[in-house]
Amino acid sequence: MAVIQVLNGPNLNLLGTREPEVYGHLTLADVETMCTEKAGSLGHDIEFAQSNHEGELVTLIQEGRGRVAALVFNPAAYTHTSVALHDAIRAVGVPTWEVHLSNVHQREAFRQHSYISPLARGVICGYGAKGYLVALEAAAEHIAEAG
Ligand code: DQA
Repeated sequence: MAVIQVLNGPNLNLLGTREPEVYGHLTLADVETMCTEKAGSLGHDIEFAQSNHEGELVTLIQEGRGRVAALVFNPAAYTHTSVALHDAIRAVGVPTWEVHLSNVHQREAFRQHSYISPLARGVICGYGAKGYLVALEAAAEHIAEAG
């Protein structure tokens, strides 16, 4: 049994009411329940968190060092801006899967660049909350392969 960290960036606490036509009707609590059940079925534990603060997300990633086997990360708007989150993932070396609920490639030009994608083992976008489950499956596969 390993620990998979599932982190969520700014404004994702508003899921369910925030632009539901873009992000869907599920709340972040619903996403957490889905992730907990999925991880359990894969034989792993998750640590699920959301923060509106870049530095707090950096600290959470740092605190996973040597303890967390994989990171499933929806950095939200910080995807497109954060060198600090890029550096944290690099420093800790945690295998990372990047998730976006919406298909960012169909959206504004400023969402086309990600500071996280160059470090990610995989990027899943446009599948809504199911994307988190796909990322958890990929992370579990990696954990099994890595032994
Ligand atoms: C998002 C996409 C980002 O561009 C946006 O800033 C978000 C959510 C998504 O899940 O689709 O807040 O990461």
